[in-house]
Amino acid sequence: MSKPRVIVSRKWPQEVESRMQELFDVQLNEDDTPMSAGQMQAALQSADAFCPTVSDNVNAELLSVDNLKAEIIGSYGVGFNHIDIDAARTRGLVVTNTPEVLTDCTADIAMTLLLMTARRAGEGERHVRNREWSGWRPTHMMGTKVTGKTLGLIGMGRIARAMAQRAYHGFGMKIIFTDPYPPPAELVSELQAESRASIEEVLQEADFVSLHCPGGKETYHLINRERLSMMKPGAFLVNSARGDVIDQSALVEALDNGTIAGAGLDVYEGEPAVPAALLTLDNVVLFPHLGSASRETRVAMGMRVVENLQAFFSGEAPRDRVV
Ligand code: DGY
Repeated sequence: MSKPRVIVSRKWPQEVESRMQELFDVQLNEDDTPMSAGQMQAALQSADAFCPTVSDNVNAELLSVDNLKAEIIGSYGVGFNHIDIDAARTRGLVVTNTPEVLTDCTADIAMTLLLMTARRAGEGERHVRNREWSGWRPTHMMGTKVTGKTLGLIGMGRIARAMAQRAYHGFGMKIIFTDPYPPPAELVSELQAESRASIEEVLQEADFVSLHCPGGKETYHLINRERLSMMKPGAFLVNSARGDVIDQSALVEALDNGTIAGAGLDVYEGEPAVPAALLTLDNVVLFPHLGSASRETRVAMGMRVVENLQAFFSGEAPRDRVV
């Protein structure tokens, strides 16, 4: 029997690409050039499975392609707001993602951003590299203490829970959260976490606010000018979720005029574009979407796609089916 034809949109870790070559008739992307919309449509017309990732815009127009051949979109990444899920459903496409395997590393990055913003680590690093450091002194680059402070989580899914564990057990932080789907009672009790009825309550009470909600229409600019103004003046905002959850112009304004003390961002609306104004501010730490970027995790994410495709082509239900 011939192997299923699979087209992958970007370069994947070597181990995963080798496994794909064993199992499928796979077209890899050796030089990692992003695929155009036309190339992605051609992939949907010629392969049994198309494997995009979170930076590919698989919108309704792209999915309206004539002569669709693909039956499954095996996306590499946990978030799936880059895929028009309704359009995929209408075209009868199965869509899978890669949850769980990136939880720890993404929570690590959120915690890194929190610590770096609070303790002015990015600014300090630039200071040393620019040869501006004149030596230790009692009032030099004083930041904000993290231990014992209140962490407010917007969304309490897997990554938020892992972040809460790090913050509570590692830094003695008080955990408050808001989520329409509350976490298991045992976890809430393990972390002595407290639920709040609204985003506003979390914003008003937290010293650090970390965003862990999905991207997409429902959360578009959830953190806007009005909500930023509800945060404590000395508070910090961390975003390792999706860029469009924050109104970036409102954030620039809030960072610039001291409405909040600082922010740590791993994601941006319209990335890889980053607003020029953010680049000039010292009270923001900027990462290039590093959440899942450890070697171990990126391999595990790829293997999870492989597992989903294998299940699908054997006639079984893929474990991470989204649609
Ligand atoms: C995801 O998988 O959705 C992440 O944003 C990639 O790190």
